[in-house]
Amino acid sequence: MHRRFIVPSALAATLVLAIPASAATGTVGAPGIGDPYYPASGNGGYDVSHYDLRLKYQPATDLLEGTATILATTTQELTRFNLDFGLAVSEVRVNGKKAAFAKSGDQELEITPADRLTKGKDVSVVVRYAGKPSELKINGWTAWARTPDGGVAAQEPESAVWWYPSNDHPLDKATYDISVSVPDGTQAISNGVLVSQSSKLGWTRFNWRSDKPQATYLSTLAVGKFDITTDKTADGLPVLNAYSKDLGPNAGAARASIERTTEVAEWLTEVFGPYPFNALGGYVPNVTSGFALETQTRPFYSPRQFANGANVSVVVHEIAHQWYGNSVSVDGWKDIWINEGFARYSQWLWSEKEGEGTAQELADYVYAQHPADDPFWKVKPGDPGPDKQFDIAVYDRGALALQALRNEVGDETFFALLKGWPTEKAHSNATVGDFLRYAERVSGKPLATLFDTWLYQPKRPAVPAAASAGIAKNALSSRAAVEPERPA
Ligand code: ARG
Ligand code: ZN
Repeated sequence: MHRRFIVPSALAATLVLAIPASAATGTVGAPGIGDPYYPASGNGGYDVSHYDLRLKYQPATDLLEGTATILATTTQELTRFNLDFGLAVSEVRVNGKKAAFAKSGDQELEITPADRLTKGKDVSVVVRYAGKPSELKINGWTAWARTPDGGVAAQEPESAVWWYPSNDHPLDKATYDISVSVPDGTQAISNGVLVSQSSKLGWTRFNWRSDKPQATYLSTLAVGKFDITTDKTADGLPVLNAYSKDLGPNAGAARASIERTTEVAEWLTEVFGPYPFNALGGYVPNVTSGFALETQTRPFYSPRQFANGANVSVVVHEIAHQWYGNSVSVDGWKDIWINEGFARYSQWLWSEKEGEGTAQELADYVYAQHPADDPFWKVKPGDPGPDKQFDIAVYDRGALALQALRNEVGDETFFALLKGWPTEKAHSNATVGDFLRYAERVSGKPLATLFDTWLYQPKRPAVPAAASAGIAKNALSSRAAVEPERPA
């Protein structure tokens, strides 16, 4: 499902040069969705509504075999279209009929259906494939992390090309059924609800369902030997957490953090409004990387996140993304502040609630930590460029911008914005500019200068967030706004 469809003229021009005859007739789907940061990401000409993945994974060899059935609607007449995918394909069918296909580069699969597809047509695409995701290198790199007992797909801005064919851009969100067969004694963890699992002939199949729109980079798969805890929230949502049996000294701290997911989500529901999805949880595989990722309904956490003891703050960050990033998704990757600025600010609000420093105190600290000549201030959180997309400045300058906004509009309006935006924009895409216009509408104040100062200038704002608005905030009124229903 995508709300917008943009093919910038630069990309259109490339297309004309590369494939003049077909492009001239306008019936070849573009090889990119039109994101200037990642021109090859996503594709043009169709809109996916559902992915059904039926997979089998063998940890001993890293062999992944799969059949993907993709349901889509054409947005133009098509004689050919692309999927983003890297593994070896053995057969493609479009509406049941065998289709011609060819690999183009590392991560494009070009499909020529037997029949020309008319605009607005429902299409089913079946892709059969097999390969070893750890051996698929794109620019010398693989997003698939092999572990001692399995493997993990969890990366941003892309991981799907290593394990299933897709329209790999957040603009085209879809629902998912992910069914994975693994050797008995091993588990397969994915997004949403574990609908069923069954075992036969030495293999156990896990059937996962994610029934709300989900961006490709937020889909995840982890195979390995896990300890699994399950529960239900007060609202009846299923909670499932999975911990590798191989976490060593970090095992206790990981559980002490992730078992608080329900509590964190309950608090964030007070701040942001209704939880947008059908399940909750988190998982910690035995990877060596250090990051975490807000994979939909079930964030991925590296064991190293828990190396110093419990880290509830990272849980707050990844669960906050379920609203900010996963339900309201970036329109293009330049809009990463829509995700990371708010997720970081949520950690500051948690700190404020826990009495470990108010958001204002943390904002003042961050501002003071970075002298004016620090490269930190060169990164523009509102348009950082692909190389700086996950720079610490996107997170911390991003949160500073929200503190500046809070001081400008006051707590009442600020918290109304924090709750109103994910409610009004649930399950859609948005730009930074969309948020600016929303904040101006709700607050009744012109905010373009404030946004420009804090999000778009490659230099340190002249005065810290509080002083810029000339409003002295006190911690008590902030606390009241963050947790209105709780006793002091
Ligand atoms: N969105 C992730 C987070 O919130 C960042 C992932 C960055 N990717 C990486 N490989 N470090 O923390
Ligand atoms: Zn984040």
